[in-house]
Amino acid sequence: MRYPSLVTGACAAAAIFAFTGCGTGGYSDDGNQSAGKDLFLAANCGACHTLADAGTAGQIGPNLDDAFAQARADGMSESTFVNVTRDQILFPITDPSTEQVGMPGPGQTLPECGGDDAAGAGDFCVEDQEQAASDIAAYVGRVAGTGASATPDKPMDGKSIFAASCGSCHTLADAGTTGNVGPNLDEAKPPKSLVIDRVTNGQGAMPSFKDSLNGAQIEAVAEYVSAAGR
Ligand code: HEC
Ligand code: HEC
Repeated sequence: MRYPSLVTGACAAAAIFAFTGCGTGGYSDDGNQSAGKDLFLAANCGACHTLADAGTAGQIGPNLDDAFAQARADGMSESTFVNVTRDQILFPITDPSTEQVGMPGPGQTLPECGGDDAAGAGDFCVEDQEQAASDIAAYVGRVAGTGASATPDKPMDGKSIFAASCGSCHTLADAGTTGNVGPNLDEAKPPKSLVIDRVTNGQGAMPSFKDSLNGAQIEAVAEYVSAAGR
């Protein structure tokens, strides 16, 4: 998206002195993902956040794979995650009513080189804080919660997940399974939303899989079952 040059210039000039909060909408497409991965690591986001693609396991802040897998399963679009991430980096909201440590502001996570907010950190700095935030957001929005490398030991396609986790109890002709503890899914023909609910929450003799399958895997098996049973 393009802004009138006057507005862009005003933002750039203001940013030399301090971060003042120019508009945040519309930046979702201009981030560079591979620069974003390097920045995610260099800025030490991983000290507080787990993100499988980056190989980080921090636990102070939310697990970004879990947070975004849920959002993906709920049908939120990638550009939304990118904007959420960018806003979170530039304008973290800390809630003083909870005991939780909030997320530090951009002056600490992404100090500008030579800026007054570089808080004495000589090692890491960025030339352009907003661009760095866009790059990181493009990267996180692309990889978080995709399950791409979240659980490498487990299959990601719906049919394999079904055969491994569900077929012992359910008959489904397409998967070649003949379990009869639970309903025959060729007959039940459950809609996707019902499959997601049962797999996530369990019911009666059916266990919940929310600790053994991640959001992307639940989404994949639900997509498969709802299509195969028809
Ligand atoms: C000192 C720990 C810390 C560091 C460093 C940190 N974060 Fe956070 N982050 C948090 C905490 C705590 C929260 C949750 C509270 C909040 O929303 O402010 C959070 C929230 C988030 C969220 C929102 C997640 C959700 O579920 O909505 C995103 C996205 C995020 N951080 C990305 C980043 C990125 C990218 C970096 C690196 C530039 C980073 N964080 C650095 C602690 C940290
Ligand atoms: C230990 C046996 C068992 C396993 C494993 C199991 N289920 Fe079930 N499932 C059941 C039982 C029993 C029910 C009936 C629950 C009830 O309604 O009380 C059920 C119900 C369902 C339903 C609802 C069907 C309807 O029409 O009401 C769906 C969908 C489903 N299971 C999908 C799955 C999927 C997908 C998996 C694998 C991730 C799975 N199940 C694993 C036993 C199992």
